[in-house]
Amino acid sequence: MDRYAVIGNPIGHSKSPRIHAAFAAQTGQQLSYEALLAPLDGFAATVREFQAAGGRGMNVTVPFKLEAFDLADRLTPRAQAAGAVNTLAFGADGTLGDNTDGAGILRDITVNLGFAVTGRRVLLLGAGGAARGTVLPLLDARPASLTIANRTASKAAELADEFATAGTVAPTGSGLAQLAGQQFDLVINATSASLSDAAPDLPAGLYAPGSLAYDMMYGKGETPFLAAARAQGAARRADGLGMLVEQAAESFFLWRGVRPETAPVLADLRASL
Ligand code: ATR
Repeated sequence: MDRYAVIGNPIGHSKSPRIHAAFAAQTGQQLSYEALLAPLDGFAATVREFQAAGGRGMNVTVPFKLEAFDLADRLTPRAQAAGAVNTLAFGADGTLGDNTDGAGILRDITVNLGFAVTGRRVLLLGAGGAARGTVLPLLDARPASLTIANRTASKAAELADEFATAGTVAPTGSGLAQLAGQQFDLVINATSASLSDAAPDLPAGLYAPGSLAYDMMYGKGETPFLAAARAQGAARRADGLGMLVEQAAESFFLWRGVRPETAPVLADLRASL
């Protein structure tokens, strides 16, 4: 049986084994998928051990996505752009590092939620790893504009600069307060503010009529960001559970060459929160 795993620290909370088991059952693929806890100073050793034991691929989660980037022998262009790896595939020609997070969020927004990004004014909140992985897929969707805003404005400016010529529009870097007076059709929260049960401190009036607020985080109830978005008049709101399932589907496709149906898996996961 082909073996796969998700590796992280902590890892007990991971929904990936459940998602991939559902994908495998649905597509008739013979594989096992487990959760692996790596010591904080033992990522590479744990990966090598799993590979030596017959592992075919891994998903990588917090805090190892940068180490996975360094460990890979080859990188896909989207992993290169993200500067982080969430998917490893072990082959005869070495270890391929990919990043499916950006594709996952775009697919959730455009396919599952039916929200076209093309021609829209997009605001990306945050300038850390989660935001970085989303910039290129967003630009590829050809928005009318892309504004990257961060609590620490200089980091947003740097990130915007890095992608200045990557798409049909150059992203604008901004602080949060500087957003006052602007309107957006799509606002994506890629900050880690939810981890401290907070939402980024945004000026009022950012949400254009019909706009979508998207939080990469998810939870049983409404996230702090989505609660604030509702209060500020965002017409549509979605959390990141769909992104989680879609990035998994993209990894599954990389490994197995088969694209699973995500809707039933997402519905099942939603019901289990
Ligand atoms: P990740 O890999 O999840 O992106 P990260 O690289 O640590 O994590 O980045 C966290 C991001 O969330 C940063 O953009 C951070 O803003 P700063 O650069 O100013 O630190 C942002 N962030 C965290 N807590 C926040 C809060 N309470 N309000 C607004 N932004 C916050």
